[in-house]
Amino acid sequence: MTQHLAAPAAAPTSGTRTDWWRGAVIYQVYPRSFADADGDGMGDLAGVRTRLPYLKDLGVDAVWLSPFYASPQADAGYDVADYRAVDPMFGTLHDADALIRDAHGLGLRVIVDLVPNHSSDRHDWFRRALREGPGSPLRDRYHFRPGKGEHGELPPNDWESIFGGPAWTRVEDGEWYLHLFAPEQPDFNWDHPAVHDEFRSILRFWLDLGVDGFRVDVAHGLVKAPGLPDIGHHDQLKLLGSDTMPFFDQDGVHEVYRSWRQVLAEYAGDRILVAEAWTPTVERTALYVRPDEMHQAFNFQYLGTHWDAAELRKVIDTSLAAMRPVGAPATWVLSNHDVTRHATRFANPAGLGTQLRTPGDRALGLRRARAATLLMLALPGSAYLYQGEELGLPDVTDLPDEVRQDPSFHRAQGQDGFRDGCRVPIPWTKDGSSYGFGAGGSWLPQPEGWGELSVQAQTGDPGSTLELYREALRVRRARPGLGAGSALTWLDAPEGVLAFGREGFVCTANTTADPVRVPAPGTVLLASGPVEVTGPEVELPADTTVWWAV
Ligand code: GLC
Repeated sequence: MTQHLAAPAAAPTSGTRTDWWRGAVIYQVYPRSFADADGDGMGDLAGVRTRLPYLKDLGVDAVWLSPFYASPQADAGYDVADYRAVDPMFGTLHDADALIRDAHGLGLRVIVDLVPNHSSDRHDWFRRALREGPGSPLRDRYHFRPGKGEHGELPPNDWESIFGGPAWTRVEDGEWYLHLFAPEQPDFNWDHPAVHDEFRSILRFWLDLGVDGFRVDVAHGLVKAPGLPDIGHHDQLKLLGSDTMPFFDQDGVHEVYRSWRQVLAEYAGDRILVAEAWTPTVERTALYVRPDEMHQAFNFQYLGTHWDAAELRKVIDTSLAAMRPVGAPATWVLSNHDVTRHATRFANPAGLGTQLRTPGDRALGLRRARAATLLMLALPGSAYLYQGEELGLPDVTDLPDEVRQDPSFHRAQGQDGFRDGCRVPIPWTKDGSSYGFGAGGSWLPQPEGWGELSVQAQTGDPGSTLELYREALRVRRARPGLGAGSALTWLDAPEGVLAFGREGFVCTANTTADPVRVPAPGTVLLASGPVEVTGPEVELPADTTVWWAV
């Protein structure tokens, strides 16, 4: 199909730096919920295209698009049936091409999602594997096994799915297949050379179309421990992220990324690989971004940190220290499509995790979210924003159960899987159908009052969260030193306050519930809340971050 498309538009050449990604601010678009051009209630690529000028104006460097490939949508597109096709619900390959071209024309880079751990159960390989039965060579491309027990009625091992329930499903002919996520997402067997070949080819397909990089889904999951050994106990979800599991973070994954790095090297420009890798420590994460592997990895330890000065300082220090030896930039992220938005996390008591169903104290959450964002954007490295956080959107915590689509909600019998709350289509206008999301409804219901948080309502209001983001990104662009390097200097500060210096710049963040008086380090550049400097001292209000020029 690419033959019908003209040569890809060149990537932006902003400045002379080839390592644009080191300090880049990357905005995650969740295509279902960003903008709906055809009015069917589901966002689409044409919708994203019309909103590119908004993103340019916001001041981000790149856009990462969550999956828009052909998919039965058992996991909102993270179940891919055809890696080289756009799902009709999102448009066509021509729309993808036009989107990449337009973005490049505006100086924005485009990163697409790649889902190599599993396919959809409707992928051609899997369908053929099922059809051809035991012994089919197609079965070797997945993990098919006979069951245990007298009649093979028990799963081959004790692994549990991340979405709840066993990680194995039995098919009609009696064999079982492995799926770390939903049963509709069978895991590929990365010991099979055909899987390697196929993914190198998929990379080239999208690189040929001009994309600037890939966010690699479940990058830590591809390789499983030989023999698929039992874990030995239940409630394995609780161990994720702290213990080494036989299905996560196996050393063998690194060979895959070394080979992909070589594929990227065949292409002009500076294209990148970004790991979604949940590992027990930041030091393990650093292995994914060694010089011959990926370029960046999400910092989930940072995302999981509470609004607490001591905890934040610790995770900032360990993140910077872990990345330094491998020469990769640290990354920072507060929200994405898998966790409760940070405005709602910080509205709730600490320690409840990253998937919440309670709105908490919204004013408190927003104040802290604004402060947390300014802190994040002052750190050296690359920062990820999730659509709608620039509007200060909270999670929609009261979605009726019957509209929820997160597969983990249903597999966990409603005890978990509240990811729909951060996926509600975003408001563009104060009123009108679906608040400007599209000409029709929206696939998840938008709450009342959504229009007051819209782009239209906030634009031009200097106290709005949207204008705070715009200004923060403007200052960050004007001071490229902010995103660069891997060093900051901690300054003395009272308990509960973070203060650090960068070149000609100081950031102070009061994470406590009370105002704190400190010496004013310079002149205020930007603040997440009202701040008054009186003489040589300043009273930092509760939950407020201030940027200073010094
Ligand atoms: C990643 C995605 C998540 C998806 C899962 C399975 O964690 O971010 O949305 O459900 O992988 O593909």
